[in-house]
Amino acid sequence: MTDSLTGDAVPTGGFTRPVGLSPRGAPVEVTYDLEAVDSVLGGAFPAVGGLRRYEALLPVGGLPPAFVGDVGGTPVIPAPALSEELEVDLAMKVEAGNPTGSFKDRGLAVGLALGVASGAARFCLPTQGNAGVAAALFSSRLGLPPAVVYMPRGYEGGVYHRACALYGGEVHFSGPNIAAAGKAMRDELAGPLSEGRYVDVSTFFEPGRLEGKKTMGLEIWEEYGEALPQWILYPTGGGTGLVGIWKAFTELREMGWMGPEVQRPRMVAVQSENCAPVVRSFEAGLDHVEPVVSQGTVADGLDVPGAIMGHAMLRVLRESGGTAAAVAEADISAAYADLGRTGTPGGYETAALLAALRNLRREGVVARGESVLLIATSGPAVGLSHAVATAGPVPGR
Ligand SMILES: Cc1ncc(COP(=O)(O)O)c(C=O)c1O
Repeated sequence: MTDSLTGDAVPTGGFTRPVGLSPRGAPVEVTYDLEAVDSVLGGAFPAVGGLRRYEALLPVGGLPPAFVGDVGGTPVIPAPALSEELEVDLAMKVEAGNPTGSFKDRGLAVGLALGVASGAARFCLPTQGNAGVAAALFSSRLGLPPAVVYMPRGYEGGVYHRACALYGGEVHFSGPNIAAAGKAMRDELAGPLSEGRYVDVSTFFEPGRLEGKKTMGLEIWEEYGEALPQWILYPTGGGTGLVGIWKAFTELREMGWMGPEVQRPRMVAVQSENCAPVVRSFEAGLDHVEPVVSQGTVADGLDVPGAIMGHAMLRVLRESGGTAAAVAEADISAAYADLGRTGTPGGYETAALLAALRNLRREGVVARGESVLLIATSGPAVGLSHAVATAGPVPGR
């Protein structure tokens, strides 16, 4: 384990307690003996389903099929109508088939499994929605006490609240967004957190969620091989997927599977204009992300005003030759409808990617004929639950 800011080794105490932030308060990253992993794998991942396929590159092994057999292994599908409109070769990695309907399942499955392997008995986290639902589901699968989930106040009675409750989660509400909910959680649960009775699985507060999200990058490599897409657009909140996909590519390269001649994709962080801390910090040439005051966005997962792993996100964007793009709320809503109309449904976060791609094409940043992969992090169901208010009239009314 290493400190993501300094690269220094972080003491793990023999994994007798869950690893949290580094001693200086930075996110911790898992490092592997990649030569040993390569020799165990012998050039290919085993033919087993879900996240179990990638166990050799995860910090915890022996994950039963009942726990992760239906997590990951998601398809990449071409998007011909949108390819034609945008004159690019567009595809989408469709994450809606994960058990709770979003890519958050990958990170929470590994985060909770790693925590339990290190002695955790109960988990808590603040959420913009999907991560809380995933934490509730995987706590339930592990037979643990309910996950303690802090959501923004406006979510009460909504779809995330009900989904979380469905899987047995204990839901609390505080503040307008994840930052405020997280602060309330740390204040209210200070006792059980400091005694180690609860373990905080907030984005990047422990190393497992990043490893789980990394599996998207491993799958992209398996899907495309050496002809990787030229661009990957990622809807960015806390940034686990962005950093995770790049970490996968880096490890594959260090294992010698991905040759140095392979052109890695340019990574693009997409946010809403109403909450764009990563975009603003990228544009300002900073090496860390300055928090902003969110004006709120229809894309719940993008309503994240700060980023504890901002330094790593900015590094990925620059190292990959990518960029960061903020999109208007009206454009996100229009793109959501267009995704549906073209039979390539996605959530508002995915719609933000389409809106950003349209801008990047207009500006000539993405050239005609280039290959582009959108990480479609969830399906449209959450958006449909508030579609009348945000996406215009319901067809047929
Ligand atoms: C559907 C969806 N897409 C994207 C994101 C942003 O993910 P990350 O925090 O990994 O940047 C979220 C986070 O809540 C989400 O739920």
